[in-house]
Amino acid sequence: MLAELACFEQHCRARFPIDEAIYNCPDCGGLLEVVFPEERVETEMWKKVWRTRRTSNDALEQSGVWRYRELLPFDGHHHQVVSLREGNTPLLDAPRAARYGGLDRLTFKHQGFNPTGSFKDNGMTCGVTQAIRLDRQRVACVSTGNTSASMAAYSSAAGLDPIVFIPHGNISYGKLAQALEYGARTFQVEANFDQILALVRVLADRLGIYLLNSINPFRIEGQKTIIFEMLDQRDWNPPDWIVLPGGNLGNTSAFGKALRELCQFRFIRKIPRLAVIQAEGAAPFYEFMKTKEFHPVRDPHTLATAIKIGDPVSWPKALHELTVTNGTVEKVSEQEIADAKAVIGQCGIGCEPASAATLAGIRKLTEAGTIRADEDVVAVLTGNVLKDPDYIYRYHTGQLEDPDGRKIDARLGNRPIVVPNDADAIAKMLEG
Ligand code: F0G
Repeated sequence: MLAELACFEQHCRARFPIDEAIYNCPDCGGLLEVVFPEERVETEMWKKVWRTRRTSNDALEQSGVWRYRELLPFDGHHHQVVSLREGNTPLLDAPRAARYGGLDRLTFKHQGFNPTGSFKDNGMTCGVTQAIRLDRQRVACVSTGNTSASMAAYSSAAGLDPIVFIPHGNISYGKLAQALEYGARTFQVEANFDQILALVRVLADRLGIYLLNSINPFRIEGQKTIIFEMLDQRDWNPPDWIVLPGGNLGNTSAFGKALRELCQFRFIRKIPRLAVIQAEGAAPFYEFMKTKEFHPVRDPHTLATAIKIGDPVSWPKALHELTVTNGTVEKVSEQEIADAKAVIGQCGIGCEPASAATLAGIRKLTEAGTIRADEDVVAVLTGNVLKDPDYIYRYHTGQLEDPDGRKIDARLGNRPIVVPNDADAIAKMLEG
């Protein structure tokens, strides 16, 4: 299908060619989205084709993003795709987490199974492919860690030059290590995420560098496939709720757009409700939904550094998607995130701190009666357990402190035990 860029603002809706390198509407400054023409979609045939592609050895068919390319804006450019076989992430049943969250049943869609360990790969394969289509050599992003890891990997794989900007001292070593290892030029800036995004936008304009933050509408297109794949895996039966963590709110925008398109093209008849969970110290979207006035959080703080964002650029899109899906927003404390994360670990699944906000949020939402115990819930775990091992070690050994210096209680702690090299002594401990 031939697609265009459109201004997201309802009063504007200006249209632009799909190959214009813009991130905001040149007319009114609004966010941009990709729109498809209203043409006949072969829903049942596409479902069959998408299912058949899973058995192919072809790179494009194996990708859990490009398998759904009929609903992506890259017609005529599939030969330029850069793929690391992203997507294909599992749906995992987690009975212990369900009980903790007050549900009869809970499924995790685990995006940490992606090539660089987070959901960013779904979007980045499209973002970098668009950079290639536009003949851009240099690409840049500001990141709390996962976007930079993903951008570094995909752009290096494509032979482009990745430039990464990160808040100095505020991302986990696992993620910083990935950016370095994948060969990105890495700048650690002494400012927070929101401040650096403003800086990078100036630099991108001045130096003609292609910007790959989630303000880039092609990232959002790729992230839609998380929902396409989830529903394909469920034989197109929508759940009642989809729960996800919220930072810059790109993923919330992508999920809402995916659900709208699936409904518009009759893949599904019911739209699941979105529940967005934020960390208490970085919850501008939560406050906005309460007060109906958007105020950025000047000094966001949370140990879930992935979602340590005070001024999320995609909030107008996220607001629209929550309205369309009759969704909700919740916020959770550092202690709640840490405990929920340990429970997800005890399921044999594991995730990074930001992802665990989902289970902490579900627990609060079932307690409040917003989500019923018998409802069908899918929570999206956005990042792999090994992204932030330092956090894990500190929690389990009782050394984790919140950003205000208060101790996090290791309620589900599991300390390593130092023992002598002595079979009798160890046997005695194991039997005791
Ligand atoms: N979970 C993880 C693990 C993340 O890395 C992010 C965002 C989010 C949730 C929130 O997603 O921003 O779309 O609402 N990480 C970005 C980054 C900001 O730079 O890696 P969002």
